[in-house]
Amino acid sequence: MKALILSGGKGTRLRPLTYTGAKQLVPVANKPILWYGLEAIVAAGIHEIGIIISPETGAEVKAKTGNGDRFGAQITYILQEQPAGLAHAVKVAQPFLGDAPFVMYLGDNLVQGGLHDLVDQFKRKTLDALTLLCPVANPSAFGVARVDAEGRILQLIEKPQQPPSNLALVGVYLFSKAIHEAIAHIQPSARGELEITDAIQQLIDWQRPVEAHQLTGWWLDTGKKDDLLEANRVILDTCTVACNQGEVDARSQISGRVHIGQGSKIINCTIRGPVVIGENCHLENCFVGPYSSISDHVSLINVDIEHSVLLQGARVTNVQQRIVDSLIGRRAHIKAAPQRPQALRFMVGDDSQIELV
Ligand code: G1P
Repeated sequence: MKALILSGGKGTRLRPLTYTGAKQLVPVANKPILWYGLEAIVAAGIHEIGIIISPETGAEVKAKTGNGDRFGAQITYILQEQPAGLAHAVKVAQPFLGDAPFVMYLGDNLVQGGLHDLVDQFKRKTLDALTLLCPVANPSAFGVARVDAEGRILQLIEKPQQPPSNLALVGVYLFSKAIHEAIAHIQPSARGELEITDAIQQLIDWQRPVEAHQLTGWWLDTGKKDDLLEANRVILDTCTVACNQGEVDARSQISGRVHIGQGSKIINCTIRGPVVIGENCHLENCFVGPYSSISDHVSLINVDIEHSVLLQGARVTNVQQRIVDSLIGRRAHIKAAPQRPQALRFMVGDDSQIELV
């Protein structure tokens, strides 16, 4: 079995961060979103992995993720020139996939629990497609399934205005080689894309064995700021292990699960986990509250922050008000004059500069 991870697209919903970087590389708990999927695939025993990349962000994805050695996998990068749909990506990847069955994983999705059960069900029942479904509050934003009492899919519709159920297609699919033939038979949708949803519907129309697996754990689609913060909260909650590889002075108080990376200095701070702090950070006179992820080379001085994600090299100084629910981009610099009583809520892009004076 092989795997295909989709890491193209323009990431429009996460702008401005995605003007300068791939959405799949935005970190959750200091690890690129993409790597969670990669690790889940390898944990399910799949080692031949193709990653679909775009001309805009492909080089960055490649440079960061490498040839797969660090994951125990062989990674092949496959360029999709245009974001012409998920089924189009499969088409582009066909030379890599050959006739092998494969897992398709959308690189900006985080799914709880491994892929073992899915792979098992797919193999045991010799299916042509297995999809993962999850009940959601806003099904119109997704591909939606109508299923029978046995969980068989009767119909799939992409982004329906009147959804037939609340069961959304999660961005993880398993396919046999039959999907290639189905893709060859579909036409671009109204949004001009070759939809994988339509290809699966084609298999259903041909009465090929297609099943759904209902997800019991969480599923996080990290396309937008609040989704990303929620993903960060959930991952910090479940995965943080207390570990201090940095330097913490005697005036600082660390409680709960806090990970501090090498070379990071914590001076006169209160930190309440779960919190992850990367390498070579400088935190001085700060309160860092739960659900904060601080990437490498971040500097925080006289700052009170919680439930926020700071990307590499961000600097925040002298902000009197608590910073909450914020996503602060790479090398962004926020500097305030003291004593300005305002509430602040940020989504600041890479290289931005904000001065509150
Ligand atoms: C895609 C699929 C959709 C699925 C969603 C999951 O949508 O087309 O069926 O529910 O991923 O994230 P897109 O992200 O392309 O809008």
